[in-house]
Amino acid sequence: MVEFRNVSVTFKQNKNTVEAVKNVSFTINKGDIFGIVGGSGAGKSTLLRTVNLLQPLSSGDVLVNGSSIKDYKGAKLRQLRQNIGMIFQHFNLAENKTVYENIAFVLKTADWKKNDIKNRVNELLKFVNLSDKADTYPSKLSGGQKQRVAIARALANNTDILLCDEPTSALDAETTASVLELLKEVNEKLGVTIIIITHELDVVKSICNRTAVMSEGTVVETGEVYQVFTNPQNEFTKQLIAHTQNFEIPPEIRENITGPVVKITYLGERAAEAVLSQTASDYNVRYNILHGKIEYIGSKPLGILYVNITGESSDVEQTIKALSEKTYETEVILSA
Ligand SMILES: Nc1ncnc2c1ncn2[C@@H]1O[C@H](COP(=O)(O)OP(=O)(O)OP(=O)(O)O)[C@@H](O)[C@H]1O
Ligand SMILES: [Mg+2]
Repeated sequence: MVEFRNVSVTFKQNKNTVEAVKNVSFTINKGDIFGIVGGSGAGKSTLLRTVNLLQPLSSGDVLVNGSSIKDYKGAKLRQLRQNIGMIFQHFNLAENKTVYENIAFVLKTADWKKNDIKNRVNELLKFVNLSDKADTYPSKLSGGQKQRVAIARALANNTDILLCDEPTSALDAETTASVLELLKEVNEKLGVTIIIITHELDVVKSICNRTAVMSEGTVVETGEVYQVFTNPQNEFTKQLIAHTQNFEIPPEIRENITGPVVKITYLGERAAEAVLSQTASDYNVRYNILHGKIEYIGSKPLGILYVNITGESSDVEQTIKALSEKTYETEVILSA
């Protein structure tokens, strides 16, 4: 659906050149909710903007629905842009237009008939659950409501692809969840392919099926979200994920602790319990659970447990070996 082929974008300012995107290649399939993650300045927005040619390429190519972006000109380019909707962190609504007018404007520009516009806007407002706000101005809406209007507007022309540049970064956690839920509905009910840029891994974990990780202009890893989160291949990805999963052992525990602390990662909700009780009796060790949580990636659970192990040192050693074999991953993070 969208294929990046050796895409590079270089900005020249005075004497400086910035290689914002460097030789990026990957494919987004029809029906994906595709997450592009990475830190500030990684080149995410620049890459996303190449899809509707808001950003020209320095080299390489982008194929949209099988056609090179370079072949889109004039009326064909306008048509392409109508098929690709875009939403932003700060919503970008016209403040002097009502909710209804914000959406209708897009359709007027695309030469829709008056009656069709009315029907379509009302249908969209119903879909995003804002029928009662048709005559309201954006300044009277909450952030979440503004983003819903922006989504309705982006979909107005029966859009096939929705580009989202940090769509929830200006929203609180609860509103974020409801906007993400709406985007999932857009994908599932309307069949829209969604590309989301974010620096929040939680966004990717909750709704994306595939992801690309960007660092300093390059894509360092792509894959199925569950695969990337449970088995990252690239060092940058590993650090990014570790950063969100990190548990700092409180100093008072760290000082008084005997025996190692291990981080156990397991797939499934209850997979750790049996392993812990089995190894405790096999090797005559004791476990002290310091921290534990279960994350959901899509709807699949990934468990993380921090345990302190005490007992005879050879028994503890054997236990760690057994844990390494029986869990998804066992990592000694403090060897006391
Ligand atoms: N129009 C421009 N002119 C010059 N440099 C630019 C331009 N747009 C982006 N850049 C530079 O390109 C690099 C990538 O920027 P980009 O906005 O794509 O990153 P990003 O990953 O979206 O970051 P953020 O998470 O902060 O939005 C940065 O170094 C940025 O300063
Ligand atoms: Mg950006």
